Amino acid sequence: MRKEIRINLGPLEGIPMGQGHCFRIEGEDIAVFRTRNGEIFAVENTCPHMKGPLAEGIIGDGKVVCPLHGHRFDLKTGEGSEASECVRSFEMSIENGNVFIAYVPASEENVPC
Ligand code: FES
Repeated sequence: MRKEIRINLGPLEGIPMGQGHCFRIEGEDIAVFRTRNGEIFAVENTCPHMKGPLAEGIIGDGKVVCPLHGHRFDLKTGEGSEASECVRSFEMSIENGNVFIAYVPASEENVPC
């Protein structure tokens, strides 16, 4: 059975509107984004190209743009704009004003590419 850990990341206001924030979860950096229309997404923070910090990237059109070389990653699926580049994505929810992540360690998950 897949090991999924549900973690409270704190108040929604802790993530600036239209930006990302990096959380350290189970020893892994996870980029959490709050879009301008109120949605929350989370993907691995480390870009598979050359380890750029995706939490510092610009978001728009459902994607995050890596701040180093501009590769794009779908916030929902983690699919990358370049062949064989992707990041893991995580299910998110908001309850009583708090953000929750359903974190799955890399060892437990089928990497999407
Ligand atoms: S490190 Fe992300 S595109 Fe190069």
